[in-house]
Parts: sequence; C-alpha cells; structure tokens
Amino acid sequence: MILRQALQSAAQTLCGAGVPDAFIEAELLLGHVVGMSRTQLYTEPDRSLTSVETEHLHSVIQRRIDREPAAYILGHCEFYGIDFCVEHHTFIPRPETELLVETAVKLARRIATGEGQIAIADIGTGCGAIAISLALALPHAKVYATDVSASALRVAETNCRRHGVRGQVELLLGNLLEPLAQTVDMISANLPYVKSSDLNHLSPETRCFEPSIALAGGQDGLDRIREMLEQVPGKLNQGGCLLLEIGQGQAEMVTSLIRSYFPQAWIEFTSDLGGIERVVQISPAESA
Ligand SMILES: C[S@@+](CC[C@H](N)C(=O)[O-])C[C@H]1O[C@@H](n2cnc3c(N)ncnc32)[C@H](O)[C@@H]1O
Repeated sequence: MILRQALQSAAQTLCGAGVPDAFIEAELLLGHVVGMSRTQLYTEPDRSLTSVETEHLHSVIQRRIDREPAAYILGHCEFYGIDFCVEHHTFIPRPETELLVETAVKLARRIATGEGQIAIADIGTGCGAIAISLALALPHAKVYATDVSASALRVAETNCRRHGVRGQVELLLGNLLEPLAQTVDMISANLPYVKSSDLNHLSPETRCFEPSIALAGGQDGLDRIREMLEQVPGKLNQGGCLLLEIGQGQAEMVTSLIRSYFPQAWIEFTSDLGGIERVVQISPAESA
C-alpha cells in the first residue's frame, strides 16, 4: 500500500466509525506511523508502507476507533504554538485554555517590575502547558507549578526540560496552593470544573481516557475553585491577581463565590471565540 491509499483508507475507516475530524486525524496518525510531517505525506504520495508500518497503522487506527484521543496515541500535542508531551495520566491541554495564557501574559507585562520580574503560580499544572507557555513568554518570570498528581508532574518535568525552562519553573507536589512556600503576584489555574451530573455526558475520549482527577469538580463543578479561593489569603502579594478558567454557564455562580471570599474584588470575565465567558480575572483587594 502507498501513502495516498493508506490515507484514504484510514480516513474512511475513522469516518465510518464516527470519529470526528476523520481526515485530519488520519493525516496525524499516518504521519506518526511513517515519521513524516503532514506536508511530506503529500510530497511523497507514492511512497510504499513497509509491512511493519502497515501493521502499526492498523493498530493506531483501532485505538482511535476505540476513542483513545490522538494526543495519547501520538504522545504529544500542540498548545499555544508549543509542543507538549502528554501521557494517560495528564489532561490534554485544550485550545480554549490559550485564552488564559494570553490574558495572563498581557496582565503580567503590566504588573511586572524592573525588567519583567514577577512570581506566578500555576495551580493544577498537568503536563505544564500553562506554566511553560508563561515561562517562555515571560523570560524574567519565576513560575511555580503545583499539581496533586505526581505522575502529571513527571510529565511536566519532561516538558520543562524539553523547553529549557527547568530553572525557571519550580514543580511542586500538593493540594492547590498549599505547597507554595512564598507569596506570588499572580495565580493562574485551570482546575477541574465539570459538574458531577455532566461527567457522563462528556465525549468518550474524555470520559474514558482522561484522568477523572483533572475533570471532576463536584456537585456544582466549583469544589476545587472554592477550596483554592479559601487558600488565597497569605499566598498572594498586595496588588496581585488570579486568573481562572471556568466552564460554560459558570460565570454567575463563580461571581457569587468570589464575592463571598473577596467582597471588594475587581472581577472581569473574558469570553472565548465561542462567546463563552471562559477566563475570570480577580483582583481581590480592588473594588469593581
Ligand atoms: C483540567 S486539568 C488542567 C491541566 C493543565 N493546567 C491544562 O490546562 O492543560 C486540572 C489539573 O488539576 C490537577 N488537580 C486536581 N485537583 C488538584 C488539587 N487539589 N491540587 C492541585 N492540583 C489538582 C489535576 O491533576 C490536573 O492536572
């Protein structure tokens, strides 16, 4: 079989099995198996697959039909223009979280002192996508990245080394803000926020393969956010702020929650491309 036929056949099989974006996924999986970029697949369409490659292709297509996310099959994914290793015990970074990074970078440039010195804590860092993106965009920032999952932190460490920020990002194991030994100027967090009643309605890719500790936010989805807000006093410098990613329809509840802990806080929401209020910025000490 040659690449052109392999691509057609893989796309048809995935499409027939109801896998979303079948053609793009087929390109990704075939490129992974033959070690070629998407462009190379099209510049050498008549290249033959070896029998080992053909067998490997069948096995990765079957995994995708079984709804394993492509990022786990490939072992990596792109976020904020950066390639990150991911494994089964790490959440796969989502495109909508790039809004949190973008907002954090803009805000950090405003509040940093001197040459850009700022201390940032990324809570629930997973594979380190947010923390590492911030470290690369803000070379004078010190970034502390916490997670309760030791295996996720091992992947974050691999990613820090790959991107040369091991000295700039300090990885800390523990519950939310607890492992932070010093105060910071900014806290970013994409914590689990899926309501218990919504967990069964997630896509099979997420429900069956991504770690539930990265998803489950309790009855109203806000358990981890609530717990973190309780921990903020004593962890945030005067004039500091928090940036949180939230789920669709959570803005109102999150506003009341924030007001219950910080009645004077300045609260501002930023919507994603789908118009969903996705990122909330909280300056605890300032009035709106
Ligand atoms: C939705 S994932 C986000 C991962 C990553 N920040 C991203 O945006 O791709 C939530 C992360 O929070 C971590 N987490 C869950 N409960 C936690 C807790 N109590 N303390 C610290 N991290 C926690 C999970 O292990 C997971 O890595």
